[in-house]
Amino acid sequence: MCGIVGYVGNKSVMDILVDGLEQLEYRGYDSSGVAVMCEDEIKVYKAIGKLNNLREELLKHKGEYEKSTMGIGHIRWATHGAPTVLNAHPHTCTCGNLVIVHNGIIENYKELREQLSKEGCVFRSQTDTEVVAHLVAKMYAKTKDLPKAVREATKQIDGAYALCVMHNDCKNTLVLTKRNAPLLVGIGENEFFAASDVPAIIKHTKKAMYLNDNQVVVLTPEKMILTDIEGNEISPKIELLPWEPVALSKMGYKHYMLKEIHEQPDVIRNILVGKLHAPDENIILNEVKLTKETLKNLNRIQIIACGTSLHAAMIGKYIIESFCGIAVDVEASSEYIYRKTVTDKHTLVIGVSQSGETADTLTAIKQAKAKGSHILIITNRPDSAMAREADSLVPVNAGIEVSVAATKSYTAQLMAFYLLGLYMAEIKESVPVAELNSYKAEMMLLPQKIEQILAHTEDIQKCARVYSSTKDFIFVARGINFPTALEGALKLKEISYINATGYPAGELKHGPIAMLDETMPVLSILMKGCVYEKLLSNSEEAKARNARMIALTNSKSEKLEDLFDNIIRVPEVQELFSPLVAIVPLQLLAYYIAEFLGKDVDQPRNLAKSVTVE
Ligand code: M6R
Repeated sequence: MCGIVGYVGNKSVMDILVDGLEQLEYRGYDSSGVAVMCEDEIKVYKAIGKLNNLREELLKHKGEYEKSTMGIGHIRWATHGAPTVLNAHPHTCTCGNLVIVHNGIIENYKELREQLSKEGCVFRSQTDTEVVAHLVAKMYAKTKDLPKAVREATKQIDGAYALCVMHNDCKNTLVLTKRNAPLLVGIGENEFFAASDVPAIIKHTKKAMYLNDNQVVVLTPEKMILTDIEGNEISPKIELLPWEPVALSKMGYKHYMLKEIHEQPDVIRNILVGKLHAPDENIILNEVKLTKETLKNLNRIQIIACGTSLHAAMIGKYIIESFCGIAVDVEASSEYIYRKTVTDKHTLVIGVSQSGETADTLTAIKQAKAKGSHILIITNRPDSAMAREADSLVPVNAGIEVSVAATKSYTAQLMAFYLLGLYMAEIKESVPVAELNSYKAEMMLLPQKIEQILAHTEDIQKCARVYSSTKDFIFVARGINFPTALEGALKLKEISYINATGYPAGELKHGPIAMLDETMPVLSILMKGCVYEKLLSNSEEAKARNARMIALTNSKSEKLEDLFDNIIRVPEVQELFSPLVAIVPLQLLAYYIAEFLGKDVDQPRNLAKSVTVE
């Protein structure tokens, strides 16, 4: 949520900043701004709306900053204060000598603002961030030492922050610090980059250092000095970033979302590499650090996640309970953290997150960890804050996901649950070997089945055209595909803004059926298995209320044509694995409807890729 980029070196800074912000635009995009050190002073440029507006603003001032080789930039997702130019970052202190950009939330900003106002600071924005500019400036006035001023100021701040600071007195210096929000330093030849996420800098360098909480780093073109909050020097831990710049291209697709949907067969193949070699061989999950003894004695698992990851977690419950017979509770992280959760060292707590940075999930796993639970993290970002909290880390290797709507990361998370479930079943001997082998054989066929869906999208596109003018949409399913219904509805609403809801089909008659009439599309996820006939009856109930009926099915039955107005057919698959083939047409349906309506598919309104505020 929000993006930070910074640079100090010997190259012209503006292109580096704006290009970096473009790579972070998926994190927030309601306003943006940059501050650059020009010959005589720092200059700040801002604009509301998409980054192109900032580009246009910058064109008007080209002569002013062309020679500048140091600066900071920010792309915003508004939390405190509307998306206006005044609220856009960078923010300055009263005299304008000090400039900062900030990700996160300053929780005690009201008290600080009151105090600083009394002391004569002039506030120009409604943001929480501006207090930090004034506070660091106040400390600088006392110390005349920018890193020290940053350290002293952050001691007075409650909340989460990644900060990048510049001062007119320090012509070649950037100061960075963070707490509970990601920030990294990219290392080049006589140059350093700052970024809140890898995509902003990966074009320039793969060498980087992640800041830990309360560390402060001072960057000049020649060197980087890392200290703790007391100013004691620490030796930096430099690592190689596991990303390739090519991952950030659309590769000919109109949108990242479509490209990412099409990557799913390869994502599944990648996650199986090294973990499943043949149906009659054991699953290899060296990442799981639970001992066999602990695994055998586990009697409870909690899974916590948000959004799409929560839907993957709900399917994870079906998988683990079916394979291992262990009771699994699933909960939205935002609910988990504000009640008295019962968890202890006998409970395995699984956190699921694409970004590994979602604030609610991060807080939840920290709480569970403090109670002694083993923390297993399923994430697409092994370099994330959540990964660093993990006792066991299952990386899903989906590659960077740029579109705000999660697609391939969801498939990868499901695969991680299948692998984990089978791995635990093998250890617990809870499923006969022949049955286990048949599951593994099915998993190895999944990429081809998804390829078949991706090769024939005509029916899905037809449905998208037919239903694009609807105001509401209902998705129903039962059993393991109930979460698929929730995920199908989430995909549709977040990118097309159509009011879409997912229900367990058996619940229709307990209320939602009152909504049905000839204007309401009802999509039934009819996968062959134990709930197929039941769902068929529920679909009949909806049809009897004149709803517009759509089936997503792997049944070849022609009888369905009497009941449904439109049918999307997918390949046959064992029921337990049907969520993987069922979700792909739903992602495509949402995509084609949003595209047909001319919506901003990759950057839907009000959303951001990574939600780093609670
Ligand atoms: O990075 P995470 O998986 O923790 O993110 C959780 C949700 O914010 C995320 O899944 C969100 O719901 C997506 N926009 C879904 O497409």
